[in-house]
Amino acid sequence: MGLVHLSVLWLLSWQFQGMMIGVAGQALQSGFYDVTCPSAKMLVKNTVEQAFLLDNSIAAALIRLVFHDCFAGGCDASILLDGPNSEKQAVPNLTVRGYEVIDNAKVQIEPLCPGIVSCSDTLVLAAAIAVELLGGPVYDPALGRLDSLAPGNVNLPGPSDGVATSTAMFIANGLDQTDMIVLLGAHSVGQVQCQFFSNRLYNFNNSGGPDPSLNATYLATLQNQCPNNGTGTNAVPLDVQSEFVLDNKYYSTIMDGQGVLTIDAEMSTDPGTRNVVSNLAGRSTDLNISFASAFVSSMDKLSRIGLRTLLDGQVRRVCSAVN
Ligand code: HEM
Ligand SMILES: *[C@@H]1O[C@H](CO)[C@@H](O)[C@H](O)[C@H]1NC(C)=O
Ligand SMILES: *[C@@H]1O[C@H](CO)[C@@H](O)[C@H](O)[C@H]1NC(C)=O
Ligand SMILES: *[C@@H]1O[C@H](CO)[C@@H](O)[C@H](O)[C@H]1NC(C)=O
Ligand SMILES: *[C@@H]1O[C@H](CO)[C@@H](O)[C@H](O)[C@H]1NC(C)=O
Ligand SMILES: *[C@@H]1O[C@H](CO)[C@@H](O)[C@H](O)[C@H]1NC(C)=O
Repeated sequence: MGLVHLSVLWLLSWQFQGMMIGVAGQALQSGFYDVTCPSAKMLVKNTVEQAFLLDNSIAAALIRLVFHDCFAGGCDASILLDGPNSEKQAVPNLTVRGYEVIDNAKVQIEPLCPGIVSCSDTLVLAAAIAVELLGGPVYDPALGRLDSLAPGNVNLPGPSDGVATSTAMFIANGLDQTDMIVLLGAHSVGQVQCQFFSNRLYNFNNSGGPDPSLNATYLATLQNQCPNNGTGTNAVPLDVQSEFVLDNKYYSTIMDGQGVLTIDAEMSTDPGTRNVVSNLAGRSTDLNISFASAFVSSMDKLSRIGLRTLLDGQVRRVCSAVN
């Protein structure tokens, strides 16, 4: 099929929904492919479930992938592109995983619905399945994104960044500090390598000792898992109290001084964030926040950053390369 024909089919997706063309961000809806590719959701679900059976750590990786893609110039699958200047090659992205699951889902979808389902939507769908597989909230994400025509430029928080720097980056992307606190609930699952927090274990801020905010009992465990001057590639759980379930226990973990990354630890004591943290942990009740519904709503906001239009986007046929 020619390119023109493919984009006509994609345009039909919009017309079936009675939507205006070119207003991506506002037109997203969960039923976007119900008419043009009704099997899309099932195919993504099957692919993610199969990958999860082989390696259950893939689920956390898929959730992280959405964050990195959306902060890299928008939710446009730019992070999936191969190439020497691609986002995959950049240092903070080196431990990002799960690309092959999205590529594979797209390989299943493409023969049935050629040129219809974007890679960025495939990624957002895969992450929603991953959240569900990890016992998190079940939701049906809004769809209708287009993919980028080139790699993006990311400005992600680094592993030693704290509340101030990270909050500024969320605000620059149109999210607020509460979204950041809620989305960091994703650190309720998955792992982190020692190299990203060993600065807190032995000679914090040139003090000659550990970060005093670390729980003393847990410090010994961390030092054991991350020996001084080791390779830094050992990994520990981001949420030691509940590593495999995407739930609000992460907030109790960080309040108990067991947060591993700087952002996790700082968020529990910073005067601007600690009250929301305490409410999400269920240790205060003045704000009435439910982690599950807040997470779904902030994931939706995250997944709407920098959406492409027909002028600067396309439906990629293969997720690792532009058409
Ligand atoms: C706000 C600042 C953030 C910082 C500084 C940060 C940093 C990191 C770092 C350093 C790792 C460990 C990587 C490794 O060792 O392989 C990690 C893992 C992870 N991050 Fe974040 N992150 C942030 C926000 C987020 C957000 C918003 C999400 C999702 C919505 C997220 C989801 C994850 C997940 C699920 C993992 C585990 C990945 C795995 O096990 O493969 N993070 N993060
Ligand atoms: C990813 O790649 C982009 C593009 O090079 C880069 O700006 C960013 O810092 C990298 N890090 C992550 C985790 O995306
Ligand atoms: C690190 O040490 C400097 C100088 O003593 C101090 O101003 C700064 O607040 C410390 N930073 C942290 C994170 O403790
Ligand atoms: C680790 O390396 C530093 C500097 O390279 C050195 O001063 C320190 O003694 C080493 N620590 C251990 C436990 O080997
Ligand atoms: C340290 O962690 C333990 C759980 O391992 C917890 O019972 C204790 O309250 C924590 N200490 C502090 C100061 O939060
Ligand atoms: C919290 O939620 C409960 C039940 O949903 C409601 O009755 C109560 O008024 C709420 N409190 C606040 C402070 O919003």
